[in-house]
Amino acid sequence: MQENHVTTGATVWLTGLPSAGKTTIAYELAGRLRDEGHLVEVLDGDEIREFLSAGLGFSREDRHTNVQRVGFLAELLARNGVKALVPVIAPYADSRDAVRTRHRESGSAYLEVHVATPVEVCSERDVKGLYAKQAAGELSGLTGVDDPYEEPDAPDLRIESQHQTVRESAAAVHALLTERGLA
Ligand SMILES: Nc1ncnc2c1ncn2[C@@H]1O[C@H](COP(=O)(O)OP(=O)(O)O)[C@@H](O)[C@H]1O
Ligand SMILES: [Mg+2]
Repeated sequence: MQENHVTTGATVWLTGLPSAGKTTIAYELAGRLRDEGHLVEVLDGDEIREFLSAGLGFSREDRHTNVQRVGFLAELLARNGVKALVPVIAPYADSRDAVRTRHRESGSAYLEVHVATPVEVCSERDVKGLYAKQAAGELSGLTGVDDPYEEPDAPDLRIESQHQTVRESAAAVHALLTERGLA
């Protein structure tokens, strides 16, 4: 830990399809921000589901509840000077809007980043084998395939990860933070 921490808190929510690049970009950005002295926490969807949201499934209601829990936690961190990086699918616009509203009402900075990798590229990457399982009929309710993904209308940033490196994608989010006076 460095002595002089940067304590401008903010939540950066990375929304997008499975294998879009949310987690990868979040950890790349986290490393860079830590090097610069920021307090950083990554609230990754998979870890969250193992602990904070253990027991929740993938129905519309449970997905909404999951996003509200993560949003609550991210806002607490942001309010206390932490960059909360949140690589969580968050497929429903109303869930994301509720999180944004919570931040606004609490005076915490909130940025929505749409990792807008096309489903064809995501299913080609298939980091966790979910697209293959869905195609084989071993899994249903896969976001973007046979479960809804409501694209953000007005994200603070849209990333086309299929056209850039991980470093470039993370740099784009970093540039946004800088532009907003948060980094
Ligand atoms: N510009 C990029 N940004 C993020 N990931 C990328 C990019 N280009 C290629 N990838 C690759 O895409 C995959 C994304 O996986 P992951 O980050 O786990 O996705 P998600 O968390 O959205 O499900 C990784 O294997 C990563 O190396
Ligand atoms: Mg992930």
